[in-house]
Formats: sequence, structure tokens, C-alpha cells
Amino acid sequence: MKKVNVEDIKPGMILAEDIKSPRGQVLARVGEPVTAQQLLHMSYYGIDIVQVQDEDDVIDELGLEAPDDFVGESQSWRIQNSAEYKDFKRAYKKCAAKLKEIVDDFINNKSNLRGDDIIEDIHGVFERHATGLGIMSMMLNIQEIDDDTYEHSVNVAIISRVLGGWLGIKDPDELDVLTIAGLFHDIGKSQVPESILKKPGKLTTEEFFRMAEHPVLGYTLLQDQELDRRIKLAALQHHERCDGSGYPYGLTRTFIAPFSRVVAIADVYDAMTSDRVYRAGICPFEVIAQFKRQRANKYDVDMLMVFLSNIAQSYIGTGVILSDGSRGIITMVNKNALASPLIKIDDGSFIDLEDRNDLFIRALI
Ligand SMILES: [Fe+2]
Ligand SMILES: [Fe+2]
Repeated sequence: MKKVNVEDIKPGMILAEDIKSPRGQVLARVGEPVTAQQLLHMSYYGIDIVQVQDEDDVIDELGLEAPDDFVGESQSWRIQNSAEYKDFKRAYKKCAAKLKEIVDDFINNKSNLRGDDIIEDIHGVFERHATGLGIMSMMLNIQEIDDDTYEHSVNVAIISRVLGGWLGIKDPDELDVLTIAGLFHDIGKSQVPESILKKPGKLTTEEFFRMAEHPVLGYTLLQDQELDRRIKLAALQHHERCDGSGYPYGLTRTFIAPFSRVVAIADVYDAMTSDRVYRAGICPFEVIAQFKRQRANKYDVDMLMVFLSNIAQSYIGTGVILSDGSRGIITMVNKNALASPLIKIDDGSFIDLEDRNDLFIRALI
């Protein structure tokens, strides 16, 4: 058991105490994996320190393959067992392997870095999956425990391209530049020792500084390559934050290139969806709530709004099981409370999750 700052808690950690609002209403229960929505409620009530169980105990207790209570019924289960997803996974793995090959060749043999080769494969993924389950919901399911820089980079490329489309970019060449910016954003990590990249647990201050050099290292690697300048800037600026809280330079919004701002959102979204202890049933509304917990001006607010509302809207009509066991359908998403949709319960009544701090979406079905 340990005391943790609410900001450092990730959805899926198991609480070691009941968390109550100042009026005594239970916000989250001991022994249950905490959700991003509950964390949002905690920050709302100004609760900053809570007790959680140690990670190792949780992993032992639940097993990382913890069977979801709703196995066979959840949306995740259906997606992962569909033929379309299997096809997507194959194409996706191929992209990650190819990216590794290209980057290795560039680093070891000083060959020119080219994005055109792999962009064809990414086009293939988009064309085949433009309709159907939807790339974003398949992406939520593809995350694996072991995070690999190349798979992460393919994720960021795909998410950046999707967001680019939502932002109204129609020119395919522009979308390609944005996609390649995502593919190469972390190329500087190739210069950071594996022992730091793969270190489980917290980095020491010195290791953290080594890690924080990757944007500059990436830019240096890309500098002389024949690539669009925005691709190089994304490698340099994807950890900058619009409020000046990022690194390496602490730039504010106007000084961060628009494509770098897109890649920053895609990068954080990917980290949020993969960085969890308990993995059964990933709920997109939790990811939205997690973004909402952060300072409002960290990301480009207009871009973030477009991103989160598109994600939320795409789940209208989806079935849910709520934390009290009731079932219903997501019927409406309020622009001001994207993480808390309106649910039509099977008995015909409506629940607005915005008004119900005691309830959250347990699973999508
Ligand atoms: Fe990075
Ligand atoms: Fe990244």
C-alpha cells in the first residue's frame, strides 16, 4: 500500500481506501480499479492524496490477462475477435516492422531517411478500414503491455492522420506530411540507452534528463534529411505544451508549429490508452476524462476539442454497462461534458452521467 498524489494515479490502479466527497458520498471504492472519471471527480473535490495498492500486488491479484467480467459481450472482445481486426493487426504490425527497418538502416548505415515507402502501407490500412469498426476503436484494442517505440510511432502517425482529417485537412500530401511527422516524432529515442527507455518504474533525475533530450536528438538526426520542415519540427516540439510547461524550450502556443501540436495530442492520447495497469475493457470516455483532468491550456484547445468530441460522438448508439450493473445506450454527448454522456437505460429512463458522480461506464457492450 502506498500514498500517491492523485495526479500520478493511472486508471486501473487499485484503491486501498474508499474515497469520499466532503459530503461523504463514495466516489470510488476500496479494492476496485479506479477509472479516469472517478479521478476527475476526485480532482473536482480537491482530493489530492489517496492510498493505492502496490502495482505488483495488483498484477498478481488480477493477472494482466484478467478476464473481463463481460467477456464475450464487451465491445473490446467483439472487436478483437473480428476478422477485420485481425486483418488490421497484421497490416499494423507490418508497418511497425517496416518503420524499424527504415530507422535502423538510417541510424546504422547512414542511408537517407524516407517516409514514402511506409506511407503506402499506412494508406493501405486507411483504405481497408475507412468504414466498418473504425480505425480509432481498433487502435484502442491493439495496445499491448510491452510498449515498443515503433508501434507507438505507428499509433501516433495513424492518430495524427485521423485528427488531421477531423481538423479539415483534405490535401492528401498534407496528410502524408502529418503522418510522417508522427512516424518520426520519437526518432531521437534511438539515441537514448535501452536501459533507460525500457526501465520499469521511475527514472532517476539524471535518467529523466537523458530521456528529455530525445526531441533535440531527433531534430539533429533529421536536420539534414530531405524531409518537410514540419516533420523535423514535430520531432523537436512534440513535448512542448501550449502553456509553456513543456520541453525542451518551454515554448508557448504561437511558437509551436501546428503539426507539432497535432502530434503532441496524438502522442499523449496513445500514452494514456496504453499506460494502464488493468487492461480489461478500455473505455474511450475515461481517456477523455483523463485529458480533462489536465490543465486546460496545455494542448491546443481548439484541436483538442475537435479530437475529443469526434471520439465521443463516434460512440453514440453504443451499448454500455454502468458501474451499478444497469445497461443502456449512449444517446447524446454534451459538448461541455464530453466524458459524461447521456445514457438511455434499458427500462426507458435516462441517466445524465454529468449529474451522477456515483456512476461511471464500466464497459462498452
Ligand atoms: Fe517523445
Ligand atoms: Fe512519443
